Amino acid sequence: MNSLYGATVKTLTVQDMTAMKQRGEKITCLTAYDASFSALCDAVGIDILLVGDSLGMVIQGQKTTLPVSINDMIYHTRCVSQARQRAFIIADLPFMSYPTPLIAAQNAALLMQNSGAQMVKLEGARVEITRCLVEQGIPVCGHLGLLPQQINQLGSYKVQGKTTATADKILAEALQLEQAGASLLVLECVPATLAKMISQQLSIPVIGIGAGVDCDGQVLVLYDMLGISIGKSPRFSKNFMQDASSISNAITAYQLAVKQSQFPTPEHSF
Ligand code: KIV
Repeated sequence: MNSLYGATVKTLTVQDMTAMKQRGEKITCLTAYDASFSALCDAVGIDILLVGDSLGMVIQGQKTTLPVSINDMIYHTRCVSQARQRAFIIADLPFMSYPTPLIAAQNAALLMQNSGAQMVKLEGARVEITRCLVEQGIPVCGHLGLLPQQINQLGSYKVQGKTTATADKILAEALQLEQAGASLLVLECVPATLAKMISQQLSIPVIGIGAGVDCDGQVLVLYDMLGISIGKSPRFSKNFMQDASSISNAITAYQLAVKQSQFPTPEHSF
């Protein structure tokens, strides 16, 4: 529980996310990296604040997410979690902070103990690592489809799962992560039909980014949807500031569009 102007505000839990999926309520998520945006998104009613390692690009000005350290994640997650009342907080485990179950558990523990994160997110079909973290009491969000931490293998940020073989692989990995105990799954940059099938087959909530409107929820990089990212925004993102008179109104428009299944449109999907 948190106190906002004397009123008691309940902080959302992983069970609240599952209940939202079960009753068909779309889950809203935005990235956040600091206290001011955290408080603003929270006041609008965004359900999840994801402290993504995208902070390497939008905050630190790096070319990729790879230079982000566990200490960077702890610092930014603490800033975000201290300023919010209601939103659920997920923090990314950065590149090479989870090469083995033991190292993953040690880094996830550091993040949970020092930052206020309620869940950690890790990229790829890291089934054994997911099982190990969940056994230690650490809730896990999987991340499949486009994996930015693998950019040097991928060559470019492109849509994943376009062939039958790669789509089947992503579906199989999603089911394995759920079986290993993951509580949530982010699907990035995959065809909308594949994301719909995965969302239907999994009982855990699936949060899409560039994955079509039929996921259980949506996430965008905050700076992309405010039109302030360095360089070109991805096609699947939308600049909500274009029709808004304030940042708060833009975030409210995103919140409503996701809750009413009006975002993403086919224009922002693959
Ligand atoms: O780091 C991040 O912001 C993310 C989202 C793009 C899902 O992982």
